Amino acid sequence: LADGPLRGRRIVVTSGPTHEPIDPVRYIANRSSGAQGTALARALAGLGAEVVFVTGPASVPPPAGVEVIRVETAAEMLAAVQAALPADAAVFAAAVADWRVANAAPQKMKKDGSGRPPALEFSENPDILANVAGMGQGRPRLVVGFAAETHDVEAHARAKRARKGCDWIVANDVSPATGIMGGAENEVTLITPEGAETWPRLAKDEVAQRLAQRIAEALA
Ligand code: C5P
Repeated sequence: LADGPLRGRRIVVTSGPTHEPIDPVRYIANRSSGAQGTALARALAGLGAEVVFVTGPASVPPPAGVEVIRVETAAEMLAAVQAALPADAAVFAAAVADWRVANAAPQKMKKDGSGRPPALEFSENPDILANVAGMGQGRPRLVVGFAAETHDVEAHARAKRARKGCDWIVANDVSPATGIMGGAENEVTLITPEGAETWPRLAKDEVAQRLAQRIAEALA
């Protein structure tokens, strides 16, 4: 482990999308690459933290120097996060699927010749961030969520912080015109109990380093 201000601190980071099965060979997913969560885990490890990196099937490789726990579904991600606790901080950068297929088939679904496609039914996934933020005993001292919005970013992020019960929200504008989603840069607003700060547009690695620095200050 690197030496640094986070030496001796254990931090859980979620990252990437989740895959929710339809049948053994098909799934529902989203376009998250895992880039920002991966950069953040790398930055935290660079400051000396012991990082448990719980990742869905991301399109970028996990960083070196962290404990990697690979999961597929939201339910698996929740179980992995709970197993990784206790921790000093938890940062939820994953793009968790809101719903899973309630009637997932145990065998590959086949066309039955009727011309009628199957009907998928959904049930709501657990909110991992809200779960951990709402823990009594054993709650990490600092719980950080992300919010990807397309409009009224600050207002929505403030409301999300209150609703989920987390300490900080890192909010960004993912409107297509910003080029942020899938891009190399990010422009974030950090919402804390003290207020909102909008950072300049920066490389995702620089956003990660600034955020890791702030986390180190908060845990000092
Ligand atoms: O409600 P929304 O999905 O916009 O919230 C985003 C934040 O909540 C992110 O930090 C995300 O990782 C977390 N989240 C979660 N579990 C869910 C849904 C979102 O941890 N099921």
